[in-house]
Amino acid sequence: MPTALITGASRGLGAEIARQLAPTHDLLLGGRPSPELDRLATELDGASTFAVDLTDYDEVEAAVEAISELDVLVHNAGVSSSLEPVAETPVEEWQHVLEVNLIAVAELTRLLLPALRAAGGHVVFINSGAGRRVNPGWTPYAASKFGVRALADGLRAEEPGLRVTSVFPGRIDTDMQRDIVAIEGDDYDGSRFLRPATVARAVVQAVHTPADAHPEEIVLRPTGRG
Ligand SMILES: NC(=O)c1ccc[n+]([C@@H]2O[C@H](COP(=O)([O-])OP(=O)(O)OC[C@H]3O[C@@H](n4cnc5c(N)ncnc54)[C@H](OP(=O)(O)O)[C@@H]3O)[C@@H](O)[C@H]2O)c1
Repeated sequence: MPTALITGASRGLGAEIARQLAPTHDLLLGGRPSPELDRLATELDGASTFAVDLTDYDEVEAAVEAISELDVLVHNAGVSSSLEPVAETPVEEWQHVLEVNLIAVAELTRLLLPALRAAGGHVVFINSGAGRRVNPGWTPYAASKFGVRALADGLRAEEPGLRVTSVFPGRIDTDMQRDIVAIEGDDYDGSRFLRPATVARAVVQAVHTPADAHPEEIVLRPTGRG
């Protein structure tokens, strides 16, 4: 079976992508060490964990050493930002969001490129609606996602032997969205948002696209919400 590494697989969208890729792929489940990650590995019989903090680059380099061929890399791990306006965003917030959402993604890509090239692999970047337009309060998060879009476009141009897909979902019913709605001061109603399983399905469909086609971008909005 081909091998897939999914970052941020401990919960939310990443866990759903893992469940849907499990029938067709040997899985490496990314996430910081946690009981949730171990539970998912047990649930998906035969899956291994890739349990590192992606911003600990020495640990990431050591973990990548064992991977000689990689068919699919799904960059899903990410953090939201505090929704402060630019005028009130401290430098530490910029550093944290850009580090997790962009720099760690670039470094993991770099470290895995030999394994991806060896397999003629497919790299999927989970971007966001915020990677296409910026709303007030979303500037640091959007900057990180605009950056990830540039990373994906550059990688696609530089590595013609790979397929590179950017997925731009609107709001998804996950822990991250609960935190965002709490900051916005609204009641949480998950039914207003995309279901993780629906977004995962689009990701898996991109992965299963026959090799003659290159799915470059996928945009998903919650139906009826513009
Ligand atoms: N939710 C939305 O509305 C929405 C909309 C558009 C796009 N997205 C994007 O979709 C992706 C998944 O989001 P989600 O909503 O599923 O988020 P989530 O429920 O908050 O889960 C985030 C995942 O990222 C992992 N992660 C965070 N920081 C990490 C680090 N330093 N090292 C390793 N893993 C780390 C977490 O692992 P731990 O368990 O170790 O914390 C967790 O598995 C993100 O890229 C997000 O930007 C989300």
